[in-house]
Amino acid sequence: MYEDIVKEVYEIVYPRRKLFTAGPVACFPEVLEIMKVQMFSHRAEEYKIIHRDTIKRLKSFLEAEKGEVLLFPSSGSGIMEASIRNAVSLKGKVLVTIIGAFGERYAEVVKENGREAIELRFELGKAVDPDVLDDALKKHPDVEAVTITYNETSTGVLNPLPELAKIVKEHDKLLFVDAVSAMGGADIKFDEWGIDVVFGSSQKAFGVPPGLAIGAFSERVFELAEKISEKGWYFNLPLYRKFNETKDGTPSTPPMPQIFGLNVVLRMIERMGGKEKWLNMYQERAKMIRNGVKDIGLKLLAEPRHESPTITAVFAPEGVKGSDIYNAMRDRGFELAKGYGEKIKEKTFRIGHMGHITFEDIKEMLDNLREVINELSKRK
Ligand SMILES: Cc1ncc(COP(=O)(O)O)c(C=O)c1O
Repeated sequence: MYEDIVKEVYEIVYPRRKLFTAGPVACFPEVLEIMKVQMFSHRAEEYKIIHRDTIKRLKSFLEAEKGEVLLFPSSGSGIMEASIRNAVSLKGKVLVTIIGAFGERYAEVVKENGREAIELRFELGKAVDPDVLDDALKKHPDVEAVTITYNETSTGVLNPLPELAKIVKEHDKLLFVDAVSAMGGADIKFDEWGIDVVFGSSQKAFGVPPGLAIGAFSERVFELAEKISEKGWYFNLPLYRKFNETKDGTPSTPPMPQIFGLNVVLRMIERMGGKEKWLNMYQERAKMIRNGVKDIGLKLLAEPRHESPTITAVFAPEGVKGSDIYNAMRDRGFELAKGYGEKIKEKTFRIGHMGHITFEDIKEMLDNLREVINELSKRK
């Protein structure tokens, strides 16, 4: 056994800090434990059992009994691309709502796939205004779909998705939801809200390593996909559905360890008392972090009522750089996240609430943050 080699690599990658990252986040120990299992064929019966069970549990978690839930060997961006290539006609128009860097990403994906993006921008820190969305849809009746970043990871804003979804449906448009940093941390009612595509990534609120994307799709998406040419092979949704239904698997090799890990988390949620209890845990973490930050005298970027349950973006005090706070916290054993996006990179820093974090860790992190802010404020 080349134990020394493993040790060498371990020394490089082992995180020496408590993680409050934007993702990948600290994984639950139970997840890491199952991921050590020896690999075998993804066409074997053992894999099929877990695949089927994971889909069943996700359907219930996402309240997508009518929707098709699929697993993808990619990160979340893969499904972002799939939504456009499978359900928007070539050169078709998409209304992209933008409240931060990941809305910008969706617009890029639309354009890079030869479709037209009508961009509807809101001030950083604000959510999508339902009335403005309604007006935009009246002004652009020819858009085929609307994209919404459920939780904008760069600003820590959670969009009022049920309200926005209602408007999109009143205009009879497709609704694509980027839930990468929301899925697992904020509620999703796929059927009830009339969502057409929603996707998440394993490395966020489920507390699983990166490499697995999770998507739910409406029947309408498959009907459109059958008629659209040049949707590519790797993210061909009808092909994924066929493999899901006939083989309890995916067209290409899935990230099996991540799927086993996700299955463990979904069972942990059940054991904890169900989705509501789990989401409450995220709300409690978020409240504790927000209150702690405000108590230190810092201001949040997110407007009130739209604060994210999974990540908090905080303004650095006047004269202090966000990256200095990030670095000082690193020196004290806490890995937060830097500000994200050109305009707010240095003005803010972020605290992730996702994955394996205890309430004691939060308290300790906040105590250290208070000292760091005092020290840096004195130095300026
Ligand atoms: C809101 C949002 N959308 C999309 C992405 C991209 O996800 P992935 O890196 O899993 O492709 C991220 C990543 O942080 C995100 O936070």
